[in-house]
Amino acid sequence: MELKKFADPLPIIDTIKPKRKNKGLSYYEVQMEEFKQKLHRDLRPTTLWGYNRQFPGPTFDINQGEPIQVKWINNLPSRHLLPIDRSIHDVGHQPEVRTVTHLHGSETKASSDGYPDAWYTKGFKEVGSFFERKVYEYPNHQRAALLWYHDHAMGITRLNVYAGLAGMYIIRNEQEKQLNLPSGKYEVALAIQDRTLNEDGSLFYPSQPDDASENLPDPSITPFFLGDKIVVNGKIWPYFKVEPRKYRLRLLNASNTRTYQLYFDSGQPIYQIGSDGGLMQRTVKLDKIALEPAERVDVIVDFSQYSNEEIILKNDLGPDADPEDETDDIIQFRVSLPLSGKDKSSLPSYLSRITPLKQGRVQTIRNLKLVGSEDNYGRPLLLLDNKKWMDPITEKPKLGSTEIWSFMNITGFTHPMHIHLIQFQVLDRQPFDLDQYNKDGSVVFTSPATAPKPNERGWKDTIAAPSAQITRVIAKFGPYTGDYVWHCHILEHEDYDMMRPFSVIDPNDHRDD
Ligand code: C2O
Ligand code: CU
Ligand code: CU
Repeated sequence: MELKKFADPLPIIDTIKPKRKNKGLSYYEVQMEEFKQKLHRDLRPTTLWGYNRQFPGPTFDINQGEPIQVKWINNLPSRHLLPIDRSIHDVGHQPEVRTVTHLHGSETKASSDGYPDAWYTKGFKEVGSFFERKVYEYPNHQRAALLWYHDHAMGITRLNVYAGLAGMYIIRNEQEKQLNLPSGKYEVALAIQDRTLNEDGSLFYPSQPDDASENLPDPSITPFFLGDKIVVNGKIWPYFKVEPRKYRLRLLNASNTRTYQLYFDSGQPIYQIGSDGGLMQRTVKLDKIALEPAERVDVIVDFSQYSNEEIILKNDLGPDADPEDETDDIIQFRVSLPLSGKDKSSLPSYLSRITPLKQGRVQTIRNLKLVGSEDNYGRPLLLLDNKKWMDPITEKPKLGSTEIWSFMNITGFTHPMHIHLIQFQVLDRQPFDLDQYNKDGSVVFTSPATAPKPNERGWKDTIAAPSAQITRVIAKFGPYTGDYVWHCHILEHEDYDMMRPFSVIDPNDHRDD
């Protein structure tokens, strides 16, 4: 289906207001519901699942150090919006409208982290009594940053997020305010996603191949999903009218599988000031920015030298791209508004202090493999360290300890690796000979380790781990104990067992467990 590009204005997502103060804490309520939203001028409204009937959900705008409570209410209908295939985690009794919300990038107690098995439903008589709601608490002690919240229910995260269950969450602080970055209407958060739509405007998501003939209980895996249209803040290929001045854009890749290579067709530079975990130490000037699923970048763009110009934020699909592929366009900026007063905002070169974690303090190095394996029927399955979700917990960092996690990717493509609870620093990447490894299991490095790219030197919670490379990150585990998860953030991979639990343990806690 053809849709005209840049026909709709960019929606600016509303900020959610607290319902009340609860013992000094701001208390919010969010309902997950089915609703309809027009994704494009020429398209019939699309049935979606959203937080507070919005896609993406409302944005939280919170000051650092102010803890909040959010009641996440499951008010979804009793049938899934999308073709729900029985996945390896659906067998038996898991209701299809289970949901649990995770605040990605947040330093939160395990009980509020949205553990995949902590899902709940609106309530099914045949299954028993289930919770319909949960109150989570977010401390917001961490650095100022753009986080995002999304569904994390076991085995169906890809479908729930695709249906619309994702939103943004901003933490601000004084230090950042003093930098005098573009703010107010000159600061815009953009959630970038890809979707495919049916003629009637409904969401398309592929059903899995029917293995019924083979009498297999599980469907074969969905290796990835790439939509053919780009949706920004809930509109397909929108445009945004801007003044000839600096803007701060906070970009989130909220797509299931798709990685973006972002650049402006005007050839203008992009000044990156922040990454997943907030401001970097220094501004990095770039022509192009790679954005893996779940990654965020904070950038300043300067339109001051343009007037009546249309500038497109593009996605470089590479030299082998299909000429029919329209996902090379993201959003159009129209420099058409008059300048309302002089642009007094700054583009600082020094931003914030990033203290490197000391390798001398490392207590444990974990060598973790990203592998292609097989399910019980010999069909391909991607795993972490050859273990499935249900296997016993093997990663148990001690509370307050510093560890190196070394991701050795022996599959044929990049996986964006994400660890809950903590922000990490990237140490390096080193390529090895994958053929040799596949032959005899020996690791032969083909070149020395390279430092992370300049824009990967801040705090990160999601990192590209490319094929045939070892990507090493360092993190301090805390300040909470309990069960969390680490996983590939390609949602199709995560749902099909490229996800593992980990547990932060307190060595001084001698309770028997
Ligand atoms: Cu964005 Cu485990 O999540
Ligand atoms: Cu997360
Ligand atoms: Cu993956």
